[in-house]
Amino acid sequence: MRAPKVWAGRLSAPTSERVEAYTASLAVDRRLGADDVAGSRAHARMLRSIGVLTVAQHRAIDAGLRSIAAELSGDTFAVAPGDEDIHTAVERRLFELSGPVAGMLHTGRSRNDQVATDLRMWARRACTDLLVAIAGLQEALVTRAAEHRTAPMPGYTHLQRAQVVSLAHHLLAYVEMFGRDALRLGSARASCDELPLGSGALAGSTLPLDRDRVADELGFGRIAANSMDAVADRDFAVEITAACALAMVHCSRLGEELVLWSSAEFGFASLPDSHATGSSLMPQKKNTDVAELARGRSGRVIGDVVALLTMLKGLPLTYNRDLQEDKEPLFDAVDTTAATVRMLTELMTVVQFDIDAMRRAASDPALQATDVAEHLVTNGVPFREAHGIVGAVVARTIATGRTLADVDLDEWQAASDRFDPSVLELFDPDSALRRRDVPGGPGPRSVTRQLTRARALIARTRRTAPGG
Ligand code: ARG
Repeated sequence: MRAPKVWAGRLSAPTSERVEAYTASLAVDRRLGADDVAGSRAHARMLRSIGVLTVAQHRAIDAGLRSIAAELSGDTFAVAPGDEDIHTAVERRLFELSGPVAGMLHTGRSRNDQVATDLRMWARRACTDLLVAIAGLQEALVTRAAEHRTAPMPGYTHLQRAQVVSLAHHLLAYVEMFGRDALRLGSARASCDELPLGSGALAGSTLPLDRDRVADELGFGRIAANSMDAVADRDFAVEITAACALAMVHCSRLGEELVLWSSAEFGFASLPDSHATGSSLMPQKKNTDVAELARGRSGRVIGDVVALLTMLKGLPLTYNRDLQEDKEPLFDAVDTTAATVRMLTELMTVVQFDIDAMRRAASDPALQATDVAEHLVTNGVPFREAHGIVGAVVARTIATGRTLADVDLDEWQAASDRFDPSVLELFDPDSALRRRDVPGGPGPRSVTRQLTRARALIARTRRTAPGG
C-alpha cells in the first residue's frame, strides 16, 4: 500500500506511476538522509521550546528520528514505493515509528527550506573533505619537490624547451595552484554557512519560530536574511562546483604532464606497474590511464558548472522544481574532484622521476641563449640588441650543426666586443639554476623559500578544514 502523498489533500486523483517515477529524486538525494534527520531534530527541539510541541510529543518524535538516523547509518533504512524524496521518506518512516504525532514535525517548515538546509549542511562537509584531500596532494608534491630541490630540468613554453628550471620548482607551481583551489573552497564553505530553515515555503511563518536557536544547534553562523532568497538560492552549490571545476582543470594539467613525461619522447617519469595499465592488443604497452582519466574527467565537472548555472538562470523567485536538479551536478563535481585529487596524490607519491634524463635535456646549451643575452646586458648592451646578436649566433650554430657550447670566445667576440670570457661558463645547467635566485625563481634559495611557503599553505588549508 502506498502512503498518501504529503500534498494529497488538494488533489483528487492518485499520482500516475509514470509521474512518480519522473519526479522522484530519492535515488539521488538519499545521501542527504543524515542531514535531513539532524535538521528535523533541531527543528523539533525548537518547536518544543516555543510550545508548539509538548515535551512528550517532542520525545516521541525525537526517538523516532533517532531510530531513523540509526537505520540510515546502518544502511537498513528501507524505501517504500511512492517515496518521492528523502524528506518524504523520512516523514513516512517517522509515522511508522512514532505514530500520528509525526504529523506535527512539519509545522512551520516546507520542503523548500528543508532541502536548502540539508544541502548546505552536506555541502559544508563536502568542502571540508575536499580541503583535506587538497592538503594531502599539496603535501605529496612538496615531499617530492624537497627530494629534488636542485634537480635541473627544462622548462617549456609552447611545449618547446625554453629555460632551465628545477623539478622542485615545477612541482611547486602545482602547490600554488591547489593552494588557490583551497582558498576558493574555503570561501565556498563560508557561503554555505547560512540557515534557510524558518523561511518556510517562501514567506516565513506565522509561528514565532526561533531561528537563531536552530542555527546554533546545526552549527550555522547566521540565519538567511530573506526568506525568498533562502529557498531559491543555490549560489553556494555553484561556488563549490566552480571551485571543483577549476581544481579539476589543475588536476587535468598535472595529469597531462604525467602523460607527457611518461612517454618515450620525454622519458622523465614512469609509474610503477601497480599504477599503470596495459594494452589488450600491443604487448609492449604501458599506459598512464589514471592520469588520462584525471584529465578526461575534468570535462564532466566543467559540465556540472554549466548544468547548474543553466538550470538557475531563468528561474523566477522562489522555489521551482527545477532546483531539484541541483544535486546531481553538485554531488558529481564533489565526488569526482575528491576521488581525482586523492588518486593524483597517490600517483605523485609513487611516480619515479628520471632526474638524469631531465638533466640531459636541461643540458641542451640552447636553453642558455637568454642567459647569454643577459650576459651582454650586464656588459651594457640594450636587451633588444643583445637578443638580436645572440639570435644570429644561434642561427649560425644550427646551420653548422653545432651548439652554443661549441662557440669559442673568438666567435662570441666577433659577434659583439661586449662578450667577456665568462660567457663560456654559462652552459652548465646547475649554474644556470643558481643564477635564477630572484624571488619566485627556480634557484635553490628561492625554492627553499617556496618550500617553507608551501608548508605554510598546507597548514593554512588544514586550518580552513577543521577536523582535517
Ligand atoms: N525533492 C525536492 C528537491 O530536491 C524537495 C523539495 C520539493 N518541494 C516542492 N515544493 N515540491 O528540490
